[in-house]
Amino acid sequence: DQSLKALAARHNLYIGTAVDLNAYADAGDPQYKTMVNQQFNTVTAENAMKWESLEPTRGVYNWGPADAFVNEAIRNRQLVRGHVLTWHSQLPGWLSAGIDDGSIGRDEARALLRQHITTVVSHFRGKIWQWDVVNEAVSDPWETPSAIHLGGNTGSFKQKWADTLGPDYVADAFRWARAADPKALLFYNDYNLEAFGDGGPGDKTQFVYDMVKRLRAQGVPIDGVGSQGHLGTRYGNYDVFQASEALERFTDLGLAVAFTEVDVRSLMKNADDPTVDANSADEASRDQAAAYNHWVLLQACLMNRHCLSFTVWGFTDKYSWIPNWFKNPPEGAGCLWDANYQPKKSLRTVQGTL
Ligand code: XIL
Repeated sequence: DQSLKALAARHNLYIGTAVDLNAYADAGDPQYKTMVNQQFNTVTAENAMKWESLEPTRGVYNWGPADAFVNEAIRNRQLVRGHVLTWHSQLPGWLSAGIDDGSIGRDEARALLRQHITTVVSHFRGKIWQWDVVNEAVSDPWETPSAIHLGGNTGSFKQKWADTLGPDYVADAFRWARAADPKALLFYNDYNLEAFGDGGPGDKTQFVYDMVKRLRAQGVPIDGVGSQGHLGTRYGNYDVFQASEALERFTDLGLAVAFTEVDVRSLMKNADDPTVDANSADEASRDQAAAYNHWVLLQACLMNRHCLSFTVWGFTDKYSWIPNWFKNPPEGAGCLWDANYQPKKSLRTVQGTL
């Protein structure tokens, strides 16, 4: 058996993918579902467990798609990463509008967040392996800092929850999640955590490190740090020792780590502006650069016995979020399989490393 999950099992590592429920559905793309179940032993719903999906109308939870997904995963002996409880993005319209126009004030917002975490974590109690309790709370160094810092100077909390509730919402979220499912592993999840300090993305790693260290010292129930791993042929390119040192700093705090959303995007041809097609001209070297970044993260994970899982954010370019998200300049080709389900160098590299 040369499947990724069989290869990963030799290392006691779980290998996963985000799942696009439209492609996965019975009326979707049969090859997609077959591959999810053949290749992966942990899965994450790409969107179906986000607040906007679960509670589109205030007070009315729509559990159907998420329940079907989680139950199907359990039938297939896959562990589920729950994504996501507390995030500034993909909130239901009624909630973000209410916070923005002030009709939902601090006390009500806090009660709503508490209610949401309690309801969702209780609903899935016993079925979720790792929960992303707080996602992307820290700004990147190049962003305009919000007014609120938890300490340190290089990062700041992304506005929505921090500005509304104050920075203690992070600790609160973990406590509420623990109370609702004491057995699930509770993660802080973010991007640009692949390496420490370089005046660029690494400064965020330091800020997050200081934050989780403080949370641990305060007895806040946090079990792990998820490093998303959204890299590009132009971003990342760390060496494997930088990447493994970053994981080690977190695991030295007694935390688990996981790569939770790995993909490695490339510049694509731009029909509107042929001068920005840079490395898309040479597909072979583009694929090789993407494979290098996949290798660095996977190898670093294998070098750390507290690195529990390696999850890619989609496994085929056919359904990747990248082209929809990174349009100017256009990027794509971030997955292990291409849009025709053909293996790429990144896949060969992952297989060979496992
Ligand atoms: C992305 C999904 O892939 C898209 O389908 C959606 O439109 C936007 O969100 N970090 C995260 C993920 O934590 O939830 C995001 O997923 C990608 C970035």
